[in-house]
Amino acid sequence: MPGRDDDLGPPVPELVPARPTLPRLRLAARECRACHLYREATQTVFGEGPARAEVMFVGEQPGDAEDRAGHPFVGPAGRLFQESLEEAGIDRSAVYITNVVKHFKFIRRGKRRIHKKPNAEEIRACFPWLEAELGAVKPRIVVALGAVAAQALLGSKVRVTKDRGRLNPASFADAVMVTVHPSSILRAPDDETRRSERRAFVRDLRVIAKALRERANEPRRAHG
Ligand code: URA
Repeated sequence: MPGRDDDLGPPVPELVPARPTLPRLRLAARECRACHLYREATQTVFGEGPARAEVMFVGEQPGDAEDRAGHPFVGPAGRLFQESLEEAGIDRSAVYITNVVKHFKFIRRGKRRIHKKPNAEEIRACFPWLEAELGAVKPRIVVALGAVAAQALLGSKVRVTKDRGRLNPASFADAVMVTVHPSSILRAPDDETRRSERRAFVRDLRVIAKALRERANEPRRAHG
């Protein structure tokens, strides 16, 4: 019966396989029922990208298009993200892209499904998947796209507007950067603001491209 909690499955740490490679994690996450979001969503949208990607981008949660397709960042925000990566000289196929929460949370308004921000409990329930992805990929640089990802990774004091665009040391990678979520650019009130926010986003991404070039010959360190 929808709304009952006794249809929930085991918590995520019990689903993470003993030798958590990305294919094993993706397979295990398909069956995830650790929080109620699985009930309304079409499917789990797990992260995607090369197993040893140097950069991991972390968004908030799949949107309507991602929920249907089963892939992260393939809707309007994903297109803007891809174009911005290209402009900054970062090849999308070389990076790992995931979300803090792996199921789409929404409310229905007529035929539309409107994105709803995940709450602390949903984020906490899902977070071990992200930890397992970090452990499997071991990226040099992690980029939090927007406040939900930034606060999930770095704590509630992080402010995207104040802290964006800088590479800071982290326990789970060589460096972490916070920047805006591409959806926030799409929501800009007018074309001029949208253009300037997009330029600022690409500027942040160029910092990552430069750091990758500089670190290209350095060995990767183990973290966490
Ligand atoms: N927004 C996100 O945070 N993630 C997606 O995959 C799509 C939109």
